[in-house]
Amino acid sequence: MKIAIIGTGYVGLVTGACFAEIGHQVVCVDCDAEKIHTLKTGLMPIYEPGLDELVARNVAAGRLEFSTSTQEGVEKSTVIFIAVPTPPLPDGSVDLSFIEGVARDIARCMTGYRIIVDKSTVPVKTGEKVAETITRYCKSRVAFDVVSNPEFLREGFAVEDCLHPDRVVIGTNSARPVPTMKEIYAPLEAPIIVTDISSAELIKHAANSFLALKISYINAISVICEASGANVMEVANGIGMDSRIGRAFLDASLGFGGSCFPKDLSAFVKISEQLGYDFALLREVQHINAIQMDRFFKKIQDTLWVLKDKNIGVLGLAFKQNTDDVRQSPAIELCHRLQKEGAVLRVFDPKAMGKARAVLSNVTYLEDMNTVAEGCDALVIATEWPEFKQLDLQRVRATMVCPIVFDGRNLFDPAEMEQLGFIYKSIGR
Ligand code: UDX
Repeated sequence: MKIAIIGTGYVGLVTGACFAEIGHQVVCVDCDAEKIHTLKTGLMPIYEPGLDELVARNVAAGRLEFSTSTQEGVEKSTVIFIAVPTPPLPDGSVDLSFIEGVARDIARCMTGYRIIVDKSTVPVKTGEKVAETITRYCKSRVAFDVVSNPEFLREGFAVEDCLHPDRVVIGTNSARPVPTMKEIYAPLEAPIIVTDISSAELIKHAANSFLALKISYINAISVICEASGANVMEVANGIGMDSRIGRAFLDASLGFGGSCFPKDLSAFVKISEQLGYDFALLREVQHINAIQMDRFFKKIQDTLWVLKDKNIGVLGLAFKQNTDDVRQSPAIELCHRLQKEGAVLRVFDPKAMGKARAVLSNVTYLEDMNTVAEGCDALVIATEWPEFKQLDLQRVRATMVCPIVFDGRNLFDPAEMEQLGFIYKSIGR
């Protein structure tokens, strides 16, 4: 199948590379000439495990190419995926100007039947607007279909998720594009669900909101655990073994972040409001997430008393493990709060220090996780990188002024930490 992907960001690049991997002919388009140049020289604009090899292999095989020209993409392809950003506006609603702009560009270049697929996360009813836009801006009366095909990729596992999806959702109001869409995904041998466009658009927002709800639920439970002396990890394991609930997304933390959950929740609350429903449940999910960060910060403040001029080591800057993404990262927010109170920070992240430098200054960036706590009054663990479990704790303990550890990700066993001589404060235990 000949496929164009308009928008070569996290979603577009991973999706394009995976489509090429399963045998399709793909052109990834982006208006950022520098990004396309970087990709053409074989470098990756983002860190995502396995992506560089995937791109290199498929470029070498002639199945994957990059371009700055939407026209080239539309001319060469039968199916055109839109994977551009849908950032939040100040009121929480979604900025759809990139989607609209791309729909217009595609319309102007179309000379024959095309399937236009929306991969970006958009509010319900966007597909209808895209179809209207294409009809309006098409030079001649050309047939086309609009499909909603939401992505469910987790950053850090995006290639894996793309090649082994739990399900593929194809939302269309016409039968014509269904065989082509099924053919694209057939090599993945994943369950495919065909719905109308609105349902597909809603599946994405409903899924992400439910996952965020699970995290806020366990974070609320963590507060009750702290107040009652229970252990949130035992509670999560106990409830997670119920197959109706499941253990995934029940890890208490200092709160969720990233470029998706906070934005998608706000958007879903806003869309619901526009449709006449006050989604108070989701507003509470947002509220619990905000106070979880407040509570963690207060824990640090209450223990250290005065933060001014305290040396604090911070492990983790990315919003979660396996990514270099620091957008809406709880770790970065925590660093800013500590700095505001005058704390002096020594920080480390396995992959995100490059991107963190743009948003976090006046800190000491270190190359070795075992040296972060040297001379520190406390150490904070802010991201769930698995390698932090390999810390040389004896060495860390020996080099700290005060052996206090605040673990926002529950990576260590409290009893073992105390045995090693740490004052150890985690979440909900
Ligand atoms: C999410 C969805 O999982 C994905 O399907 C969608 O397409 C995009 O949004 P992503 O933002 O990459 O993916 O991150 P995810 O792994 O879902 O984690 C989101 C945040 O929740 C992170 O900050 C993570 O640390 C936090 N989290 C996750 C918890 O605090 N506890 C958990 O149990 C799970």
